[in-house]
Amino acid sequence: MEFVTLNNGLKMPSVGFGVFQIPEGEECTRAVLDAINVGYRLIDTAQSYGNEKSVGAAINESSVPREELFITTKVWISNAGYEKGKASIEESLKKMKLEYLDLVLIHQPLNDYYGTYRAMEELYKKGRIRAIGTSNFYPDRLVDITLFNEVIPQVNQVEVNPFNQQLEAETVHEKYGIQMEAWAPFVEGKNEIFTNPVLKKIGNKYDKSNAQIILRWLLQRGIVPLAKSVKKERMEENINIFDFQLTDDDMNKISELDNKKSSFFDHREASSIERLASLIR
Ligand SMILES: NC(=O)c1ccc[n+]([C@@H]2O[C@H](COP(=O)([O-])OP(=O)(O)OC[C@H]3O[C@@H](n4cnc5c(N)ncnc54)[C@H](OP(=O)(O)O)[C@@H]3O)[C@@H](O)[C@H]2O)c1
Repeated sequence: MEFVTLNNGLKMPSVGFGVFQIPEGEECTRAVLDAINVGYRLIDTAQSYGNEKSVGAAINESSVPREELFITTKVWISNAGYEKGKASIEESLKKMKLEYLDLVLIHQPLNDYYGTYRAMEELYKKGRIRAIGTSNFYPDRLVDITLFNEVIPQVNQVEVNPFNQQLEAETVHEKYGIQMEAWAPFVEGKNEIFTNPVLKKIGNKYDKSNAQIILRWLLQRGIVPLAKSVKKERMEENINIFDFQLTDDDMNKISELDNKKSSFFDHREASSIERLASLIR
């Protein structure tokens, strides 16, 4: 496994396994155990995924020592604020039966996220969390939270895939030393990404799948991809990306696929915020 170094010196695996939309229960525990067994060390969950207990069960059952794993969760909008945010992180630790979390992110730039961030800073200083950060913070929100708090976020997790490449956002992350993570690297299978001819042509040169080309493209951009699969053979495929190198020409061809917009929703649109807020009302 390769690593990236966060702005506080902490090493984070350069690829991760996500558990969004894997229901709480045996399937989730089995998927996380399979992911660890094929070599994943970074596991990405969230309070809102409702599967922290199953993720924790896999971590505790695995023979891989806890200190070799890198566990992320995210504070959901309904838990925003100093008191609620702090209590929710303690609850996440309890559900996962863990002594510490490697990374805690604010899931969305909504509600009292400043309060949440203060709670995270406090737990970070106490060593209950080894790194803190944000998710879905576009450059304006990211710079706001960076400039008006003591601890600079170590990570920001945003949608990055060939159709939404986030090139402008990348420069802001670089400026402030904030590590980017990519959610939905496969656009959750939308837009026929797994058969896209541009990616296929590149993949044929290296005998790699479209999924592998996308993950390698992110890796070479210095972005940590989080891929999800419940199938062990796909987990193996998705981590088998360290034995080849895309050329500048390959990277340029992939750049041409950029639509510069989300395939899901835009966090800056009023209707998106209303929809997210309606989930907690
Ligand atoms: N911060 C946020 O707001 C946010 C939002 C979304 C996601 N995330 C994180 O990012 C992670 C990844 O994103 P995602 O789960 O939304 O979607 P994704 O990883 O882009 O796509 C997952 C889909 O691709 C399929 N798949 C995986 N590998 C494949 C392969 N090699 N060939 C063909 N199909 C393959 C999976 O099916 P099978 O499972 O059936 O294999 C699943 O349907 C999440 O699990 C979560 O941890 C964060």
